[in-house]
Amino acid sequence: MKQSTLRFILAVILAVTGVIAWNLWSNGEETSFSVADLPDLPADLAPSPMVEVVVPARLSEAEAMGERAFATLCAACHGTSAAGRDGIAPPLVHRIYHPGHHSDEAFHIAVQNGVRAHHWRFGNMPPIEGVTRAEVNNIIAYVRALQRANGIE
Ligand code: HEC
Repeated sequence: MKQSTLRFILAVILAVTGVIAWNLWSNGEETSFSVADLPDLPADLAPSPMVEVVVPARLSEAEAMGERAFATLCAACHGTSAAGRDGIAPPLVHRIYHPGHHSDEAFHIAVQNGVRAHHWRFGNMPPIEGVTRAEVNNIIAYVRALQRANGIE
């Protein structure tokens, strides 16, 4: 066999292995995520908030339920009051997440399917399991209340 033929075959084998490896790797990434898997960091090592958030004086019933759900499901990454955690996940109290840029549906899609890193360099957000659409609606109401209190509306 000619050397160029051999090289061609080798290139094909490498490409095929690459595609298989890529698929295995990206499937692995879709595995479900539990907040319980996140390490508990001591306070002095805990990543710092990325923005200063003014907390609204009063929350509606739905917003208050959203606050509790957010604390359980989202704050580990997005920080207390959605202020972000440096190196982990962005603040949702940020003009990028203004309702005109990221509709309520964008929140539902993020929770259901996860998010491929595109605005930041923190990596992907995994899909969040075990949360109902109604709970996500409360979380959205809470995040919108935070955004309004910080002039994002
Ligand atoms: C494991 C960490 C993690 C958890 C838990 C998490 N997120 Fe995220 N989220 C991220 C990261 C990282 C991004 C930024 C991706 C990027 O670069 O745009 C993000 C982005 C988002 C976005 C923007 C989506 C878009 O279209 O750009 C929304 C909305 C969001 N998260 C909502 C939530 C909500 C609501 C919860 C809780 C139910 C939650 N996240 C839990 C890490 C997380």
